[in-house]
Amino acid sequence: MPNLSGKHISYWIDSTPSANFPPLSDNLSVDVIIVGAGIAGITAATLLKRAGKTVAVIESKQISTGVSGHTTAKVTSLHQLIYADLIKNHGEEKARIYAQSNQAAIEFVAKTVAESQIDCDFSRQSAYTFTETEDNLKDIEKEVEAALKLGLPASFVRETSLPFPIAGAVKFDNQAQFHSRKYLLHLIKQIPGDGSYVFENTRVLKVEEDTPCRVTTDKGIIQGQDVIVTTNIPITDEGLFFAKTFPKRSYIVGARISADKAPQGMYIGSGEKYYSIRTTPDAGGLLLLVGGGGHKVGTVENTEEKYLDLENYTRSRFGVESIDYRWSTQDFVSVDKIPYVGKLTPLSQHTYVATGFSLWGMTQGTLSGMILADTILGIKNAAADLYDATRATPFVTPKGIKQTLDVGTHWIGDRLKGLGKNLDDVAVGEGKLVTVDGEKVAAYRDEAGEIHALSAICPHLGCVVAWNSGEKSWDCPCHGSRFSCNGEVLHAPTVKNLKKF
Ligand SMILES: Cc1cc2nc3c(=O)[nH]c(=O)nc-3n(C[C@H](O)[C@H](O)[C@H](O)COP(=O)(O)OP(=O)(O)OC[C@H]3O[C@@H](n4cnc5c(N)ncnc54)[C@H](O)[C@@H]3O)c2cc1C
Ligand code: FES
Repeated sequence: MPNLSGKHISYWIDSTPSANFPPLSDNLSVDVIIVGAGIAGITAATLLKRAGKTVAVIESKQISTGVSGHTTAKVTSLHQLIYADLIKNHGEEKARIYAQSNQAAIEFVAKTVAESQIDCDFSRQSAYTFTETEDNLKDIEKEVEAALKLGLPASFVRETSLPFPIAGAVKFDNQAQFHSRKYLLHLIKQIPGDGSYVFENTRVLKVEEDTPCRVTTDKGIIQGQDVIVTTNIPITDEGLFFAKTFPKRSYIVGARISADKAPQGMYIGSGEKYYSIRTTPDAGGLLLLVGGGGHKVGTVENTEEKYLDLENYTRSRFGVESIDYRWSTQDFVSVDKIPYVGKLTPLSQHTYVATGFSLWGMTQGTLSGMILADTILGIKNAAADLYDATRATPFVTPKGIKQTLDVGTHWIGDRLKGLGKNLDDVAVGEGKLVTVDGEKVAAYRDEAGEIHALSAICPHLGCVVAWNSGEKSWDCPCHGSRFSCNGEVLHAPTVKNLKKF
């Protein structure tokens, strides 16, 4: 294993305290149950409580330690290159609603921070999507044109404060960045009291719509008039959101940089291989965050290479002093580029979801919370129809078809992996698929030489998990469930651990 630099933890989590909410201990009843405490769930809970509803937020781990605790935390409507595509595939009216609703989410965050004086390193910044080659310049120019048509604060620039030349960039003015976990911890602390609750370390196992709805957890049952499932990808299989999105994993390093060498603003490259760049204030200095290396979950085993690539890029492009952090996370990409927000299925009356933020959930998760709160409060939200979670599914798009075929290939093809390999073939520090008594086993040998043997069959829908060496986890290539090397759930959609073998 290569020697990787930096602490293996998200900077956002490392620089904030635990919230220490209790687990559920008694059955109870509230107006609205919110499953999952990331940015989507916490925003919805905040708005509902402000409107006088009683809420219970249930989190399987700790508040904002999922994707929202591992993000790059740019708050922008510049989603790499999207507006020319949206106009082409969905029409100008829908593209305009997408643009305006994401801009509204930025302003919601800004207003919330200002009104409650939240100490979360919020600052207004310009956002850029750049290309270093003339070949991609046409796409950049098309994006500027599309964004201007939609009323977005866009311009074309050739000069930036990046320490290397670019061919051109789309620039959006008056965007923002923040410390996502400081922001979310502040919001969640306003929830408990007056009949509302927050529970950590409480895993939801089942959501049933009835009058009232029933949410079964590993610690008890909660009843409510409405349920919002904001577990990044819904843990409920109805609605088939795992088939309308695909899970994309990506990597971040945090490097110490002096102010005179740090770029101003937030950046992302265009094209297939790209890097995402921003700084954040830390302990009187600055950390430069550089992200990249994205791939479909469960399709890359040697993920240490992703960190090495980021480290090399960061050291060679910026005069950094040290690499202090490295972490990774994943988000679900909507195949038609628009998130799914609203009722779980066309028949649902009281169960809501939000997913498919396509790595832009700081705005899209915020606006999901706004839409879902409005819907439950009976307020017409102008963006709700665009994001309707029950809209016609895009299985017929080339990306949708490929995703379905990929899952089929994994379901069948991965069953052949590990044949002829046994536990002796697993080296120290390594995870491998092996066969024991004819069964497919996911085996990891820890540094002390002890084997941790688990069933390799994902409890979600039965695909075979794959080893992720950088995180020492078992990742499912079908719909992105992840498990620790001891088999505990790390990421939805599954709610069940891998069986111990
Ligand atoms: C590398 C990377 C960088 C990114 N950078 C940006 C960026 O700069 N700007 C931007 O806008 N977006 C960014 N994103 C996307 C953004 O971070 C996500 O879209 C957003 O954080 C998702 O929020 P969420 O609320 O859906 O999920 P989460 O934050 O993951 O919250 C879901 C919660 O549900 C909990 N949960 C799961 N299962 C259960 C269960 N059974 N019971 C109870 N609780 C459960 C989880 O533990 C988790 O805490 C990035 C994404 C990636 C992968
Ligand atoms: S995540 Fe669906 S089968 Fe594993």
